Amino acid sequence: MSITQSTLNGICPYFTMFPLEFPLRILKQYASKSEWVMDPFSGRGTTTYAARLLGLPSIGVDSSPVAVALTEAKLANVTPSVIISCANRILRETSSSDIPSGEFWSLGYHPLVLDSLCRMRRELIRNCQSDARKALRAVILGALHGPMAKTKPAYFSNQCTRTYAPKPRYAVRFWQEHHMNPPFVDVLHVIRTRAERYYSDQPRARGFVIEGDSRDIRVFQRLEQIRVKWIVTSPPYYGMRTYIPDQWLRNWFLGGPSDVDYSNNNQLDHGSPESFARQLHSVWENTASISSPDARMVIRFGGIADRNIDPVYILKQSFKDSSWILRTIKPAGSADCGRRQAIHFAIRQAAAQNEHDAWAVLRS
Ligand SMILES: C[S@@+](CC[C@H](N)C(=O)[O-])C[C@H]1O[C@@H](n2cnc3c(N)ncnc32)[C@H](O)[C@@H]1O
Repeated sequence: MSITQSTLNGICPYFTMFPLEFPLRILKQYASKSEWVMDPFSGRGTTTYAARLLGLPSIGVDSSPVAVALTEAKLANVTPSVIISCANRILRETSSSDIPSGEFWSLGYHPLVLDSLCRMRRELIRNCQSDARKALRAVILGALHGPMAKTKPAYFSNQCTRTYAPKPRYAVRFWQEHHMNPPFVDVLHVIRTRAERYYSDQPRARGFVIEGDSRDIRVFQRLEQIRVKWIVTSPPYYGMRTYIPDQWLRNWFLGGPSDVDYSNNNQLDHGSPESFARQLHSVWENTASISSPDARMVIRFGGIADRNIDPVYILKQSFKDSSWILRTIKPAGSADCGRRQAIHFAIRQAAAQNEHDAWAVLRS
């Protein structure tokens, strides 16, 4: 794998992702050609991308539209020039519409930038079938909000956080207090730079992504023809329930509302550790229904400190009376002290607990 190839994994930040090296190391060491790989909590598609780099076919499932869009981009077989001409064509052939109003939008984006974004948005909501459009959509999601640069802008917005979207009222106050106006950004230039960075020299990908609830067996019934050998995954941490609201701006670009969306449709419910474990149990059972008899599941699992529940307890509970047998659980270090899944929790003021890696095999 060359350095340029692995850049695609960073096309858009997504908090609580695991590092690419985690699925890559496991699959490189143990998987054989043409074995199917799956992640039922796909997130930004790190497992999918590791599979791509090794020439393995993969399936990702996630209930968050942002996660699905990012995983689809990890599977796009396309070159930078096709993405750039797709963006050019959309801007040439569409007229403005659906421009959101209000202080957040007028201070967050230069009017010409917002106009271009809204045209891209409408067109990509209407049709996002081709790999070029899927890649373009993720390129835009990755540039939608982030810090302002002193030289060439890399993001479309006024000063913002990069990984999660700012809350509108907080952002407006911040911009007003600091007298910050939204910069004019050459949208096509940003798209070109990013498309070249992420899509030059990628190996061919094979696989697909499903937007769905992994607790729902019907999602897996659609995959009856496939036998999965490797499941490499990381469920949400118990207590970490803000995947959708924290991504509201990217979610807006995908067709969601133009304000924070607090609905948590089809996300795991964090009511109690026991109910959380029961929901994980149903996901494990669903994955078993499409796994080959010699399948392996590897789980990186952690928790957030303010919940004060031992993540290992939840994990063990979730495997009780399951089709899978937990073989090993080993500490993977603290999420706060390295490139771990929850590294971004530090800025969310919810310190992460130690993470663990668990291996499971199917009961014979
Ligand atoms: C810890 S993140 C996965 C990160 C991923 N390993 C990566 O590297 O990007 C957990 C993911 O589970 C998803 N999720 C939560 N509840 C779900 C459900 N019921 N069905 C499918 N996905 C769900 C969230 O949307 C989130 O993307």
